Amino acid sequence: MAAINVLVVFLFCTCVNLSALVWCEEDDDYAKAILSAANKDKDWLVQVRREIHEHPELGFEEHNTSALIRSELDKLGITYTYPVAKTGIVAQIGSGSRPIIAIRADMDALPLQELVEWEHKSKIDGRMHACGHDAHTTMLLGAAKLLHQRQDKLQGTVRLIFQPAEEGARGASQVIKEGVLQDTEAIFAVHIDAETPTGAIASIPGPFTAAGCIFEAKIVGVGGHAASPHRNVDPVLATSFSILALQQLVSRENDPLQSQVLSVTYVEGGTALNVIPPHVKFGGTLRSQTTERVYHFRQRLKEVIEAQAVVHRCEAYVDFKDEDSTPYPAVVNDNDLHLHVERVGKLLFGPDNVHAGKKVMAGEDFAFYQEVIPGILFSIGIRNEKVGSIHSPHSPLFFLDEEVLPIGAALHTAIAELYLNEHSVQ
Ligand code: NI
Repeated sequence: MAAINVLVVFLFCTCVNLSALVWCEEDDDYAKAILSAANKDKDWLVQVRREIHEHPELGFEEHNTSALIRSELDKLGITYTYPVAKTGIVAQIGSGSRPIIAIRADMDALPLQELVEWEHKSKIDGRMHACGHDAHTTMLLGAAKLLHQRQDKLQGTVRLIFQPAEEGARGASQVIKEGVLQDTEAIFAVHIDAETPTGAIASIPGPFTAAGCIFEAKIVGVGGHAASPHRNVDPVLATSFSILALQQLVSRENDPLQSQVLSVTYVEGGTALNVIPPHVKFGGTLRSQTTERVYHFRQRLKEVIEAQAVVHRCEAYVDFKDEDSTPYPAVVNDNDLHLHVERVGKLLFGPDNVHAGKKVMAGEDFAFYQEVIPGILFSIGIRNEKVGSIHSPHSPLFFLDEEVLPIGAALHTAIAELYLNEHSVQ
């Protein structure tokens, strides 16, 4: 097999040696051809992305986004499966035979009010594409067009997964349950990154994003007049002690060399200034670099809240909001796929524009795919001070440098095409 693979790569370019980064004219020609083809589509890509940006939809409600993508795929003559996980689409391009790889883009927006004043601002109050998923979807559509144009050169099959509900609703799990990964040997995805400049990428092998889960707690006491606290059981005080006690989990029980985060993000109590409420709700998120630590961490979180409630004569109910009781796993990138992404990135953008990725404590449901097959999630730069593309994802001021759209389309295309060439079984 190895000898055959070498031959296939040899045929692709007579002097190519991607691993050792030996450049030749054919490599440059290939990079130029892919980037130039993607650039020709820039106006179309910008138009599609703005249409999605103006009409953001939350997880499993991406009906218009999905319809737009299907309509564009229809125009391109690309076949696809729909619906997958309610609103998702899986397009397939190539020979239909192995190797089969997948590229995933998420389609959902956030429940956030956009605060950027520009012509193509979100038209829906309280909804915003503040995590760049509109760009991810558009870049994958751009790759669909390029891969379709190069279909006769593909030595295998590419599945393009337009996935719903990445933001906390486990869309990836639903996609997997519908058999999309069957016979697939590797999966790739990009996420935009406001720390990395436009035109560059960043990739890291091994652990990348955190494992984590959300939680909600309800502390139940006995409400009554605030002037006679001794006749009531005060859930506000019990909640206050609980939240403070939770802060000690990370500082006193966690190995300082292992990153963990616990953030309480909301507290909801009474409605009057002179009434002790009967109950208080609060909730938040906890994160760790390993899935195992999340299991331990959340058990301790439950114990601490319940014990603090008892101390204050209240009752506590803790809910982790996951039907199957499993936290989000950590994204752990496959080393060989990381090396492939680095090689292709250097080929397209030059060695200086392939950066070392950094671990983050954000969560990503791409990790569910990696529980099934090897995968890599890496970052594509959008930082551009000139256009104000400097804010982190999930900020109401988030603004995307649209130059990334053809760059991402070209990158997906080259990653897929070169992977298939190198792993061809013919
Ligand atoms: Ni995101």
